[in-house]
Amino acid sequence: MRLAAVILWASLAANAQPTYSREVSRILQQKCAQCHRPNDIAPFALTSYEEARIYAEDINRVVTERIMPPWKPVAGHGEFEGNFGLTEEERRTLQDWVMAGAPEGDAADLPEAPAATGEWRLGEPGLILQPQAAFTPQRGRDVYRCFVVTNPFEETRYVTAMDVLPGERKVVHHVILYIDERGQSPALDAKEDGEGYTCFGGPGFNVTINSAVGGWAPGSAARHLEEGLAVQVPKGARLVMQVHYSAKVLAEDMTRVGLYFREEKPRKLVRFVPVLNTSFRIPPGEARYEVKGDMSLPLSTKVIQVFPHMHLLGKEIKLELISPLGRSTTPMIYIDKWDFNWQGFYNYKSEIPWPAFNTMRVTCVFDNSAGNPNNPSNPLKEVRWGEETQDEMCLAFLGVTVDNEDLIGRFLPGF
Ligand code: HEC
Repeated sequence: MRLAAVILWASLAANAQPTYSREVSRILQQKCAQCHRPNDIAPFALTSYEEARIYAEDINRVVTERIMPPWKPVAGHGEFEGNFGLTEEERRTLQDWVMAGAPEGDAADLPEAPAATGEWRLGEPGLILQPQAAFTPQRGRDVYRCFVVTNPFEETRYVTAMDVLPGERKVVHHVILYIDERGQSPALDAKEDGEGYTCFGGPGFNVTINSAVGGWAPGSAARHLEEGLAVQVPKGARLVMQVHYSAKVLAEDMTRVGLYFREEKPRKLVRFVPVLNTSFRIPPGEARYEVKGDMSLPLSTKVIQVFPHMHLLGKEIKLELISPLGRSTTPMIYIDKWDFNWQGFYNYKSEIPWPAFNTMRVTCVFDNSAGNPNNPSNPLKEVRWGEETQDEMCLAFLGVTVDNEDLIGRFLPGF
C-alpha cells in the first residue's frame, strides 16, 4: 500500500509541470545566482520568484540560444570543477516552466537559502593584495589594467589558493595574478599616469612557466589545490594583478586578491606549461583560419588546470592530448564559441596524466573577416602573434605537476 502510494506520487511528480518553488529556484540558485544577485556582475538578480517571473521570457530565450549561463567548455571535452553549465534536463525544465506560464508553486517547496559565508569564502587569507589607489575605468568600453602590488615576503612562499573580492562587482570582469620575476613591471607602471598601466593580452612583460599564480572570473569559486600541491612565489618577485573592467556604469574600483599559503614546502609544485603557436599569419578577410601548435615534454606530468587564451579574432579553441603515432586522443578542453570577455581558469575534476613524449596540441580558429563584429582592425590587415589588441594569440597554459621532480634540472632546464 505504502509502496503503491510512493510510486503514484513519483509518477505524478514526474508529469507535473515544473514550478518555481520546486525545480526552478534550485536551478537558478545553483547555476545563475552566483552572478545574478544584488550588486554582482549581472544586470539583475534572479533570487526570488518575482524576479524570475519578470525575466521569464528572457530566461527562456537565453537558455535556448545558449547565451546563458556563460560556461564556455563544451561537454565531453574534459570534466571541470565548479561547472555551472546547464544539463539538458535543467534547460528543458526552465523552458517548460516558462511555457507553462511561470507558475510559482507552493512556497513550502522552496530550497533553503545558501549558507552565508564570510567575506572570503575560504576564510581570512594569509595575504591580501590591493592596488595603492582606487581606479576608475572608462565607462562603456573594455579596459585591461595591470596593478603592481608589493610582495612583502622575504622568503619563498607556497600558494594553495587565490580568491578575489572585486571592489565594485558591477565593473570587474576577470582578474589574473602574474609573477614578475625579473622586475619588469615598475618601468611599465611608471610610463603611464594614474594607478597601474594598460595591458591587454598579458601583463606586458615576458611570461614564463613561473609567471602565473591563478585567475578568477565571475561565477568561479575559489578552491584550495589538492593536498600537497602549491604554486611557488619566489622571494622578492613582484606580483601583478591584471583586472579586466567592463564598465557599464561609472564607478571607482579597488579589487583585492587574497592568497592562502601553506607553511611547509609542498610535495609538488604546480608549474605552467604553454602550448602555443607564435608563428602564424592570419590573412585579411579569412573567415575561418586554423592554427595548430604542439608541445611535448621529455618528462611525465599530471595536468591539473587549463587556461585557454586568444584575443578578439578567436572563434574556437581546442586542446587534445595525442599519444605517440596518434594511437589515441584525449580531449582536454573545447570552447566552440570563444568570447574574449569570458576567460576562465578551469580545474580538472581529476588530474590527467600527460606521459613523456605525448603531444599536447592546441587548435585555434580565427575569423579575420569584416563579418566578425569583434574585429578590431579597419581596414583589415594580416594578423600575427602579439600583446596588443590588434594582435592575436593561440595559447593554452596548463598547470601541471612533474612526476619526478628530481629530473627537472637535467631534462627541463627552464623549469
Ligand atoms: C558567470 C556569471 C553569470 C552566470 C552564472 C549567469 N549569468 Fe546571466 N548574465 C550575466 C551577465 C554579466 C549578463 C549581462 C550581459 C553580458 O554581459 O553578457 C547576464 C545577462 C543575462 C540575461 C539578459 C541577457 C539578454 O540577452 O537579455 C538573462 C536573461 C540571463 N543573464 C539569465 C541567466 C540565467 C537564466 C542564468 C543561469 C541559468 C544565468 N544568466 C547565469 C552573468 C551571468
